Amino acid sequence: MSTPFAAWAEQVQADMEVVLDRHLPPASALPTKLHQAMRYAVLGGGKRVRPLLVFAAGTLFDAPRDALERSAAAVEMIHAYSLVHDDMPCMDDDDLRRGKPTVHRQFDEATALLVGDALQSQAFLVLSQGALAPDRKVAMLSQLAHAAGSLGMCGGQAVDLDAVGIALALPELEQMHRLKTGALLRVSVLLGAYAGKALQADEQAALDSYADAIGLAFQVVDDILDATADSATLGKTAGKDAAHNKPTYVSILGLQPSLALAEKLRQDAHHALQPFGEAAIRLRELADLIVQRKA
Ligand code: IPE
Ligand code: IPE
Ligand code: MG
Ligand code: MG
Ligand code: MG
Repeated sequence: MSTPFAAWAEQVQADMEVVLDRHLPPASALPTKLHQAMRYAVLGGGKRVRPLLVFAAGTLFDAPRDALERSAAAVEMIHAYSLVHDDMPCMDDDDLRRGKPTVHRQFDEATALLVGDALQSQAFLVLSQGALAPDRKVAMLSQLAHAAGSLGMCGGQAVDLDAVGIALALPELEQMHRLKTGALLRVSVLLGAYAGKALQADEQAALDSYADAIGLAFQVVDDILDATADSATLGKTAGKDAAHNKPTYVSILGLQPSLALAEKLRQDAHHALQPFGEAAIRLRELADLIVQRKA
């Protein structure tokens, strides 16, 4: 594992561009507008943090390459769909995403709705194919469905929308963050691992603790960046949370305590990985990236 983290991450990001391209319908397939819009939403942008987590966890458990690619593509497609819908006028009403006009601005609202629907189906299709044993695939599909659904990301988005203008108590805020963002980050780690093998109970517990910590940390940092970074750096509109009266870690705890919480979660994530020793270096480095990122 002598490759520096930055070089490893750049390689995964570049590989994912090819993998996602391969697993999306071609732009020339009918209906072409829908397929162009799906590709617009997924390709050519984003930090690819979820694929990085899939590959880092998969490396730890010697997962086969094709299963990791399919897992990473599936979770990134669900994530991209969540962003397309999150940006629509009925949700956060945003014009800028990944440095480009949002899908409903570049195309139209109905197309954006369908892009999300179709990306979600495509994600499960891609994960259902491939050479892993059927029982392993069913377990992974079930984990992804749970993470994306009403007890995961969608549920978190529902809580988020209902919470506009409401000063949530900290436990409710934490629950909202764990669902809307934590669930997909968590399942990224688990899919990478399950692509390698069925985990022992102690391995599962250690990985769960790690995944919980980085999942929450990710949205805490997203809230911090919304309040402190600029739109050009983020590639999305900064300052939206305050403008839309969203309860966030920054609005409820304040900036310094939010930064301190993110750092504590980073340390919790490192601590959780101790049973895996040196082999978990990429997962440790990803916890650092998630908390120390500037965009
Ligand atoms: C943004 O996610 C939305 C959240 C879940 C907080 P990312 O910050 O991972 O967005 P991309 O994929 O890099 O654009
Ligand atoms: C979005 O949270 C979470 C999902 C898309 C599921 P945000 O609304 O804070 O994400 P950004 O800031 O628009 O990327
Ligand atoms: Mg939102
Ligand atoms: Mg948003
Ligand atoms: Mg945000």
